Formats: sequence, structure tokens, C-alpha cells
Amino acid sequence: MKNVMLLTGAGQIGMAIARRMGHGMKIIIGDKNPQNANVISEIMNNAGFDTNPFEMDISSRGSILEIISEAQKYGEISMLVNAAGVSPSQAPIEAILKVDLYGTAVLLEEVGKVIAKGGVGVTISSQSGHRMPALSPEEDEQLALTPTEELLALDILQPKNIRDTLHAYQMAKRCNEKRVMSEAVKWGEREARINSISPGIIVTPLAIDEFNGPRGDFYKNMFAKCPAGRPGTADEVANVAELLMSEKGAFITGSDFLIDGGATASYFYGPLRPKD
Ligand SMILES: NC(=O)c1ccc[n+]([C@@H]2O[C@H](COP(=O)([O-])OP(=O)(O)OC[C@H]3O[C@@H](n4cnc5c(N)ncnc54)[C@H](O)[C@@H]3O)[C@@H](O)[C@H]2O)c1
Repeated sequence: MKNVMLLTGAGQIGMAIARRMGHGMKIIIGDKNPQNANVISEIMNNAGFDTNPFEMDISSRGSILEIISEAQKYGEISMLVNAAGVSPSQAPIEAILKVDLYGTAVLLEEVGKVIAKGGVGVTISSQSGHRMPALSPEEDEQLALTPTEELLALDILQPKNIRDTLHAYQMAKRCNEKRVMSEAVKWGEREARINSISPGIIVTPLAIDEFNGPRGDFYKNMFAKCPAGRPGTADEVANVAELLMSEKGAFITGSDFLIDGGATASYFYGPLRPKD
């Protein structure tokens, strides 16, 4: 039996974190697109890792339970890396809420029931959640504590209250941060930790879709005018994940880490500030 890592989302960010933390582990790579899971699995196996691809959909509880059972065939799950998601240019409002908001909440809940003693998890949120104005304390609490099966019925998530796909994405990412806080309490009962990372623009296929999508100029302007003056790389996100998932992060749980080259700072107090 080995220590097992569950990686959901076979994209660049997920792979960078899995490569940083997954040596010596059995890594089960889940993705809705089997092609993506196969490609990442092959790259990692050719680099000395022990991975298996697995077709799954994080927006389905049944599918999440299936990948958990598959992973448990090899040992106890001691690491979770959730980097599955769809961006505002890739999907309609309903799909963004189902995958990024509901799916992440269910995954944290189900893995939290079985995570090994001393286990750790990270889920990828986004700077987008930091840009949206504060919600009311009641709304934050609803996102944090509403039972997963009732989340999508919340009034704040109904079509009349969601302006567009970007707003849906921002609500999903805000919810991720709140769920990480509430789940950290439960994971703590198993001496396990869970945190989120909120990246800015990281060059991956998902970001490239955004550069070529309706908000392409907005994104290009954003990295040009952020203090770092460039987009980030998945390996830089892995630097943060390494801190959070290693012994050095033993006192960090229920927290969210913004890594955006200063884009959020510039959005509030610098040249990226919206004109009106
Ligand atoms: N790239 C960025 O600039 C950026 C910025 C902020 C946040 N993020 C977040 O990082 C995460 C990973 O994004 P990435 O840039 O590595 O993208 P990516 O496109 O490289 O990878 C995302 C993967 O998730 C998979 N996926 C989509 N829906 C799924 C579902 N329902 N079930 C299982 N798998 C599914 C896709 O098939 C894809 O392989 C996402 O949550 C995204 O919102 C990315």
C-alpha cells in the first residue's frame, strides 16, 4: 500500500503541484476529459511518477465517490489537489456554478470524510473572488455552511441575481474560500489541513482561452499593468502549494493565498483601477 494523492483537474496547475508533492505516492488523476487525464498521466509516468488516469466529473457526487473508491484501492488518501474547473469564457453560468461552486464543495466534503490523519489538501480558487465586492455576513455564511445539496438553490445564486459568467465564476471562487474555512474545521478533527490558492493570470490552456475570448484585451492589459508586469506560471503556484502542503505549513489551514503578481493590489489602488 502507498500514500495516495487524488488530483482532480488534469491541467497545468494541477500537474505542477502533483509533480512538486507527489514523489513516492500513487497519484490518481481525475478529469472529465479523458484525453487530458491520459496526457498528464503519461508525462508524469515518463518523469518517474506513479499515476493512473481516471475519467470523472467533479460536478457529480457519484463520480467523486467513484474516484475516491478507486484511489482507496492503493492506500489511504493523504493528499488532495483540486485544480478542476471551467472559466468564464468556457462555459455558461449554470455549468460554472455546478462545476466550480457545487463540485468543489462536494469534493472537499467527501474527501474530508476519508482523508488520512495528518493529510493535506489544496483547492484552486481565483483572484476573481478577491475582486468582487464584499458580500453580507449572512451571504458569506450561506456560502460557507449551506448543506452541499442545497447550495445551488440559494437565492443569491439564482439566474435573476447572477449578471453574467464572470459574476458566476466570482461567486464560485468566493464560495470556494468560504467552504475551505468551514471544511478546515471538519478536516481538523482528522488532524488534516485544507487551504485554497487564488492565482492571478497563469498561462495554461484555460487562460489562453480567456486571452482569445471576449475579455481577451482586458486580461492582456491586466498582466501588462500589474506590478509583476507578466502572467505567472503553474510552477510558481506550485511554490505556494509546496509551502501549504509540507510540514512548513503545519499551522496553516482554512486559509486562502493570493498569488497574482499584484494584479488585485493594482485593481484597487493602482493603474488597473476601473475608470468609474
Ligand atoms: N489559468 C489561470 O489563469 C487561472 C487563474 C485563476 C484560477 N484558475 C483556476 O485554476 C484551476 C485550474 O485551471 P488551469 O488554468 O490549470 O486550467 P486547465 O484548463 O489547464 O485545467 C482544468 C482542467 O479541469 C478539467 N475539468 C473541467 N471541468 C471538469 C469537471 N466537471 N470535472 C473534472 N474535470 C474538469 C478540464 O478538462 C481541464 O483538464 C481552475 O479552477 C481555474 O478556475 C486558473
